[in-house]
Amino acid sequence: MSFEEDFRSLARRLTREARITVLTGAGVSAASGVPTFRGPGGLWKDFRPEELATPEAFAKDPQTVWEWYDWRRQKIAGAAPNRAHEVLAAWSRRFPGFALVTQNVDGLHERAGTANVTRFHGSLWEVACSAKCRPSSWPDDTVPFPRLPPPCPSCGANLRPAVVWFGEAIPAAALASAERALDCDVCLIVGTSSVVYPAAGLALEARRRGAFTVEINPEATPASGAVDLALPGRAEEILDDLEDLLAS
Ligand code: OAD
Repeated sequence: MSFEEDFRSLARRLTREARITVLTGAGVSAASGVPTFRGPGGLWKDFRPEELATPEAFAKDPQTVWEWYDWRRQKIAGAAPNRAHEVLAAWSRRFPGFALVTQNVDGLHERAGTANVTRFHGSLWEVACSAKCRPSSWPDDTVPFPRLPPPCPSCGANLRPAVVWFGEAIPAAALASAERALDCDVCLIVGTSSVVYPAAGLALEARRRGAFTVEINPEATPASGAVDLALPGRAEEILDDLEDLLAS
C-alpha cells in the first residue's frame, strides 16, 4: 500500500467506538523547541542522558545533574505545546476510549489540555526529598532555582527531580494504568526512539494483545519493523494531517 492508502486506512480506524492508546516520547515536543535525548542536539555539555539520569550520578555530583535539569526546566518553561500536543488533546476529549502514556516529563501534554495522561517517567515539575523525609513528591515550578542543588524545605537535604532515573522502578500506579491502556484497538507510538525499557516494550505488548500498532517518527527505530504500520514523518505534521482527514 502507498503512504496515502496507509494513512487513510489508519484514519478509518480512529472512530468514537475505538479504544485508542497513544505512547509518546521526546520527539512529540521537538517542534516546541525541547531538545530530544538522543540524536542531533541530544547532548548537553558532552554528557549523554544515561550519564546524568541515574541515582549514581546524582549521588556523585548533584550539582551537575541539577544544572542539566534546571536547564531543561528553563527551556520547557519558555516553550508551548505544538500541533502534535494539540491534536492529541482534542482526541482525548473526543474519543471516549482514549488513553495517552508518555515518557515525557515536560508536562506539555497536560498544558495542552490532554485528558487521561499517564506519566510513565514522572514529572520535571515535581521534586522529592533525596533523604526521603517526606514520602512522596510535590509540585515545584521555580525557574531557575536560586541555588543548586535546591534544598528540601523540611530537612535541608538535596531535593531531586521526581523523574524516573535509569535503574529505578516505574511508579506502580503509572505501570498499572499503562498496562490497562494496552488493551486497545489502535496503538500509536509517536516520537520515541524505542530503546529505553520498559517503555519500549509497551507497543509490542499492545500488538500481542491485538492492537493495530502504528509508529510515527521521521527516523526508523527498533520498533519500526515490529509494528503494523510505520508512518515516516514528524508528529506535528502527520497528526495534523490525520486530524484534517478526520474532520473532512
Ligand atoms: P529520544 O531522544 O531517545 O528519541 C526521540 C525520538 O523522536 C527519535 O526517534 C527521533 O527520531 C524522534 N523525533 C524527532 N523529532 C520528531 C518529530 N518532530 N516528530 C516525531 N518524532 C520525532 O527520546 P525518548 O524515546 O522519549 O528517560 O527517550 C526515552 C527516555 O530516554 C526518556 O523518557 C528519558 C531518556 O533518558 C527518562 O527521563 C527516564
